[in-house]
Amino acid sequence: MADFPNKLLPKLLIVEDDPGLQAQLKWAYEDFEVVVAGDRASALTALRAEEPAVVTLDLGLPPDPDGTSEGFAVLDAIMALKPDTKVVVASGHGARESALTAIAKGAYDFYQKPIDIEALGLIVRRALHLQRLEGENRALASKSDEGNRVLGGLITAAPEMVKVARTIERVANTNVSVMLLGASGTGKELLARGLHDASDRAQGNFVAINCAAIPENLLESELFGHEKGAFTGAVKTTEGKIELADGGTLFLDEVGDIPLALQVKLLRFLQERTIERIGGRRSIAVDTRIVCATHQDLETMIGEGRFREDLFYRLAEIVVKIPSLAERPGDSALLAKAFLARFAREMNPQVKGFAPDALASIDAWGWPGNVRELENRVKRAVIMADGKLVNAEDLDLEAGDRDEAPLNLKAAREQADRKVIRHALARSEGNISSTARLLGISRPTLYDLLKQYGIAT
Ligand SMILES: Nc1ncnc2c1ncn2[C@@H]1O[C@H](COP(=O)(O)OP(=O)(O)OP(=O)(O)O)[C@@H](O)[C@H]1O
Ligand SMILES: [Mg+2]
Repeated sequence: MADFPNKLLPKLLIVEDDPGLQAQLKWAYEDFEVVVAGDRASALTALRAEEPAVVTLDLGLPPDPDGTSEGFAVLDAIMALKPDTKVVVASGHGARESALTAIAKGAYDFYQKPIDIEALGLIVRRALHLQRLEGENRALASKSDEGNRVLGGLITAAPEMVKVARTIERVANTNVSVMLLGASGTGKELLARGLHDASDRAQGNFVAINCAAIPENLLESELFGHEKGAFTGAVKTTEGKIELADGGTLFLDEVGDIPLALQVKLLRFLQERTIERIGGRRSIAVDTRIVCATHQDLETMIGEGRFREDLFYRLAEIVVKIPSLAERPGDSALLAKAFLARFAREMNPQVKGFAPDALASIDAWGWPGNVRELENRVKRAVIMADGKLVNAEDLDLEAGDRDEAPLNLKAAREQADRKVIRHALARSEGNISSTARLLGISRPTLYDLLKQYGIAT
């Protein structure tokens, strides 16, 4: 047992029968609460009592210190009792064969003795990271399963996007204004709705207005409403979107397109929380939560005097950057499958899935139009498909990668490396050994590359 267990630290269980190694390992993890066990029984007692996030497991334990039977028995028991535990198996006996067996039994990774404390530490810390991410993913998934639909059916397996979803969940029940920044089709509106649904305003209206789609001269009336007779054509008193969102959420889409004069009026509303309809004299109090989105670079617009800085700070109490689809490794295939299932059900039930060439082309494509483009391509492909499987041709993705010309050959190589590594990591769920195997390189080489390219795992 650690001498002064710190309850805030994550727990690491070290199963190791060699007292010398026990002592050495025990002090190697300052950022963990370390628990040590020397045999199967005490390992399982510790598992039940401490529920460690990560376990390092020596396979050769008494009464079979030269074999692997006890170690594998512990691994089986852990996987049966608490399958989300990340077990890093360390052994010197028949390394390769044991490694494969261990991974097949559900171990997270394998480490060959003699132990290099630093390298093992890296694996353990990454295992913890993954364990936490998976936990968060599960929490998100179970919430949407509950019909609670916290984030409006958001589909993702990418840590970058899970982080976005978590931020949105966290701020949902506050009244802070949220600005969603992301390229076209990244899911800004989906997240805005998700935020509303997750908030205590969910019973109120979610009112969306696309500021770019409405002619300038009509936008003011759309937002603020007008009294009967306020202008030619104002035949009856009409509430504006802001008023309609009273008690709910107002989503200002393409907020960068609001003309300057109207920006002033919007700012006044945000400061005073009251509006006056056009042609009206009464000021009406409105309690609404503002979420806005834009694909424009507002900071540049501020610099050029086209967007008011004071309005920006009112709108952007929290800024959430939504990664493009290309920046979410693994998500394009995941989303494609979900869209295929939906559209097949709705429009062409004979379609059952993707042909391998289709999945490969989905993976290779740059998705400049993000999720919206993916959704549209899959929809069209499902409609067009003749057989049971959608192929690359149906998706119209044969032309290959259309990425822009890189700076130079070095940059191009780096870009390609990064992409391939991230995809391999995503495919092997962050497991270093299997990523290295997929890439046909050694683990040390992979570690070097991860460090060189600053890829977080
Ligand atoms: N992570 C996701 N999971 C499931 N569906 C998604 C996801 N992201 C986006 N979508 C779907 O993709 C489409 C585009 O998303 P959305 O309209 O929210 O994007 P946007 O950023 O507002 O795009 P635009 O800039 O074109 O208005 C929608 O049909 C949305 O439901
Ligand atoms: Mg949108």
